[in-house]
Amino acid sequence: MDFMEKITSLAKRRGYIYPGSEIYGGLTGFWDYGPLGTELKNNIKREWWKSMVYNRDDVVGLDAAIIMNPTVWERSGHLKGFADPLIECKICHKRLKADDPELMQAHEAEHKGKSSWTEPKMFNLMTEVYLGNTEPKLKAYLRGEITQGVFVNFQNVVNSSRVKVPFGIAQIGKAFRNEITPGNLTFRSREFEQMELEFFVKPDEAESKKIFETFKELRLKWYVDLGIKPENMRFQDHDKDHLVHYARYATDIQYKAPFGWSEFEGIHHRGDWDLSRHKLTYKDPETNEEYIPWVIETSGGVDRAALFFLLDSYYVEEKRVVLKLHPKLAPYKAAVFPLLSNKEDLVNKAKSIYKQLSANIYCAWDSRGNIGKRYLAQDEIGTPWCITVDFQTLEDDAVTIRDRDTTKQDRVSVDKLEAYIENKLINS
Ligand code: GAP
Repeated sequence: MDFMEKITSLAKRRGYIYPGSEIYGGLTGFWDYGPLGTELKNNIKREWWKSMVYNRDDVVGLDAAIIMNPTVWERSGHLKGFADPLIECKICHKRLKADDPELMQAHEAEHKGKSSWTEPKMFNLMTEVYLGNTEPKLKAYLRGEITQGVFVNFQNVVNSSRVKVPFGIAQIGKAFRNEITPGNLTFRSREFEQMELEFFVKPDEAESKKIFETFKELRLKWYVDLGIKPENMRFQDHDKDHLVHYARYATDIQYKAPFGWSEFEGIHHRGDWDLSRHKLTYKDPETNEEYIPWVIETSGGVDRAALFFLLDSYYVEEKRVVLKLHPKLAPYKAAVFPLLSNKEDLVNKAKSIYKQLSANIYCAWDSRGNIGKRYLAQDEIGTPWCITVDFQTLEDDAVTIRDRDTTKQDRVSVDKLEAYIENKLINS
């Protein structure tokens, strides 16, 4: 089994990620998140929101509709420019992205080097939907990026809040792309979630470049602070010939995935592309100066983050598989066990500790099998701390707490348990 197969298998077996609508054979490019995957994604989004909105005084949030008036996409240039080059194998008619040489080579190998390809044709990635109950129905689109919802509400946010340039609007939500070659688990999906900041600045070359560089560093640091190994990340500038239609310049934060260096997040200088296309301007409330702000964008994928956090935290050690997820991202922060499941007083004491902790900390309960097996199961899903209630607990009201990464054990009194975990979480 290669590394991706191992992760895919763990993700399904333990309830992180399932193939979408699997009982009907699945649907290419769509995935469902199980109980643990849902927690992981929620934790990623919460940490992102904390860092981009709550810890700053120059950013506000937004939650725009997924389907918008189709004119938005005409103006934003997506109906024309949001396309990938598509080629077709003349032998078996399989379609691939022309800018994916690895997939092309793999396909050629399948045909023993005999493949030949049609000329590349641009294929638009927007997903069409049809609305209403009279014919002809209104043709609209599922948003190809969550971003346009921010721009069409630019004036609303300026008028209804106290923001002043420079300021940002943050948003998290689903986006949809009719990808030609979805693959590598959730890496390239047709439905995915983005977490984005659109930061509006004065139209000034030097100043906007400085802000662009600051956001690059800030975003890289966010991943590293949450546990991604620095040696597995790098910046990759977009060369001028491959810039997306709205960008003046752009850099990707890339991750060293088992399938090669791959885009994690895009940092884009969008200039005045979007606001000018939507004919929107900004009036400085102090100077009355009117201008079109420029936009620096940080655009991350929640699903890619979840996938890369899983890949980066996966370790096979002597006797165990362990996900060393950052405690802030781990689905369960702690698991509570009675040493023996057939001793009523142990089970009752453990249950009461579990209930007490669960009021503020998301905990797992496990009373199956023996302690060793329970540790293995919690290691494999990434639970940072395991708490065991034993016979001594009934006498001294203290428990054993075992650390996932070091496997070292501490004895902690029950009344200090919550503070002990909270303290570890804050300092992790
Ligand atoms: N608003 C700018 C924008 O959408 P992008 O580089 O096309 O920029 C940003 O996308 C991020 O969204 C990517 O870095 C990636 O994390 C995520 N993303 C894009 N396409 C994706 C797909 N097909 N599947 C999963 N995530 C995707």
